[in-house]
Amino acid sequence: MFQRLLFGLSHQKRIDGFARTWQTRAHRLLTANPGAKRAKDALNGTWLGHPLHPALTDVPIGAWTAALVVDLLDRRGTRAGRFASSVALGTGLAGAGLAALSGLADWSDVNRRQRPVGLVHALLNVAAVGAFGGSLWLRLRGSHSAGKALAVGGYTLASAGAFLGGHLVYTLGTQVDRNAWAREVDEFTPVMEQSDLPAGVLTRATLRGEPVLLYREGERIFALADTCAHAGCSLVSGRVEGGVLTCPCHGSAYRLDDGAVVHGPSPYPQPSFELRVRDGQIELRLASPGGRKRRAAFAEAAASPAAGYGSASSLEPVQP
Ligand code: FES
Repeated sequence: MFQRLLFGLSHQKRIDGFARTWQTRAHRLLTANPGAKRAKDALNGTWLGHPLHPALTDVPIGAWTAALVVDLLDRRGTRAGRFASSVALGTGLAGAGLAALSGLADWSDVNRRQRPVGLVHALLNVAAVGAFGGSLWLRLRGSHSAGKALAVGGYTLASAGAFLGGHLVYTLGTQVDRNAWAREVDEFTPVMEQSDLPAGVLTRATLRGEPVLLYREGERIFALADTCAHAGCSLVSGRVEGGVLTCPCHGSAYRLDDGAVVHGPSPYPQPSFELRVRDGQIELRLASPGGRKRRAAFAEAAASPAAGYGSASSLEPVQP
């Protein structure tokens, strides 16, 4: 029953038509100039390496839960109880503003199935904010019983909104790292003949079943996972400029060097690979985020040339 309702919501054409108009407007607003783009990156959580929205929603949900618990325990309506529940309501309302902005930043890049669900999720939360705002206003005017009743309504709306938020992430995969289930290859594994890799062309290869991307620039070669961490697009048709690879779908930009995020909406770095060339074959193994393992490989190679590691970005064949 629930599943049918949720499926229907994802495919509701009328709601989606409305949602698409507002998504386009939100996206334009959030990418209007470099300052807006920087703000959008921050709201997406690129600086955190994790979506910011779920962390921010804890503030209003926690504060409104606290207000409801105080209302429930303080049946006599003491001064301290009234003060505590009002402070909790106000805290929740302040936190909801930032949570809404980060949700808007994420929603401006979601796909067609996620878009109408995201819109209803947002509208439920806006209604909840209205109810909690009304509840606080009534309490400040001395109508505590009415304020308490309205807060229960607000909590019901916020819970329904949170349910849809969970559905957006756990069922529809919004802002889930698309490389979360990728196989981790720890041993150097051949992926392609060195001579088959053209310069200046993004080239796809396969590393034990996982698509990887190779890019040769002069004497350097870079290797990243091909599946964009944001929403799973193939990066092979992306654009490379100044050592940065931009995804063709929503514009997430990753450093070719180590997969670090330069611009969102992806908050997740793109998996990168250590590289060596043996017997004319390009071999890869997974590097840890930020290239720490890559640097370790450099150090190992420098300490012991006989170990057989090449520079992680050199095309020179390594003598065995
Ligand atoms: S899939 Fe969205 S930016 Fe790459």
